Amino acid sequence: MPLPRREAAPAKLNLTLHVTGRRPDGYHLLDSLVVFLELGDVVTVTPGPLSLSLTGPFAQGLAAEPNNLCLRAARLAERDVRITLEKNLPVASGIGGGSADAAAVLRALDAQPDRLETLGADVPACLASHPVRMQGLGEILAPLPPLPELHVLLVNPGHSLPTPDVFNALERRDNPPMPDRLPGFPDTHALIGFLQECRNDLEAPAIRLMPEIADCLAAIRAAGATLTRMSGSGATCFGLFTDADRAKAARDRIASAAPGWWVAASGLAPAKL
Ligand code: C5P
Repeated sequence: MPLPRREAAPAKLNLTLHVTGRRPDGYHLLDSLVVFLELGDVVTVTPGPLSLSLTGPFAQGLAAEPNNLCLRAARLAERDVRITLEKNLPVASGIGGGSADAAAVLRALDAQPDRLETLGADVPACLASHPVRMQGLGEILAPLPPLPELHVLLVNPGHSLPTPDVFNALERRDNPPMPDRLPGFPDTHALIGFLQECRNDLEAPAIRLMPEIADCLAAIRAAGATLTRMSGSGATCFGLFTDADRAKAARDRIASAAPGWWVAASGLAPAKL
C-alpha cells in the first residue's frame, strides 16, 4: 500500500508471564499469553527523509533520538521515511509501547526484516497484534484459541520501571511453564479459571522495586475485577471485567481517587488489524 499510511500500534497485555529459565547470555525464557487492546499509540509514515516527530499525551516521556524504536525499525527495513508517533501510552510501562510502535512502522512499510527480535522481545508478537502464546525470548508464537469478550482496566502508578532491573530482581528463574496444551476458552469463566492457575513471575520483583504497584493491584481488586495482575515487567497493572460499563465505572472511580495515576479502560483489539 502506498504512503502516507496511518497504523494503529495496539497496547500489548501479558495475561500471563511465566519466566521458565535463563540463557547463558542472560536473556530469559518466557511463556506468556499476550493479547492486544483497542487502546494504543498511532504511527503515521510519509515519504522521507528519515525523521521522527512526537505528539500525544506521553510525547514528553520520549526523545526523537536515533535509538528510538520507530527509527530503528525504519533503518532495519532500509527505508527513509518521516514518522509521526502519537504517544498515547505511558513509556516503559509493561504494555509494549515501544515494541508496538516499531511493529506499526514495519506494518506501514509492509516490511518483515530479518533480525526483528533485535528491536525488542515483544516486536514479533506486536507485528502479529492478535492473541498469541509467546515462548522462547519472545520469538516463538502460536495463535490462541478464540477468546471471549474482555474489558480491561489499566492502572499505572505514574512512574516507569526499567525492564532489566525487574528481571535482575527475580528470585527464581526456573519457574514452571504453562501447561503444554492450552485448554479452550469457550467463555469468560473458563478463561478466568485458567488464568487464575497462571502467574506473572515478574510481579513480585516489580513490587519489591516499586511498592506502589501493590496499591494499584489493590485498587483494581477493590473495584470488582474478576482477575487482577501486572502486565510485562510493569508497572502497569490490569483488571479484567465482563462488562464495559463496569470497567469504565471502575476507571472513573480510581482516576478521581488517585489523580497521579494513569487509568484507562479498553476492549481487545479486533482480531485482524
Ligand atoms: O527486548 P526488550 O527490549 O524488551 O528487553 C529489555 C531487557 O529485558 C533486556 O535487555 C533484558 O535485560 C531483559 N529481557 C530478558 N529476557 C527476555 C526479554 C527481555 O532478560 N526474554
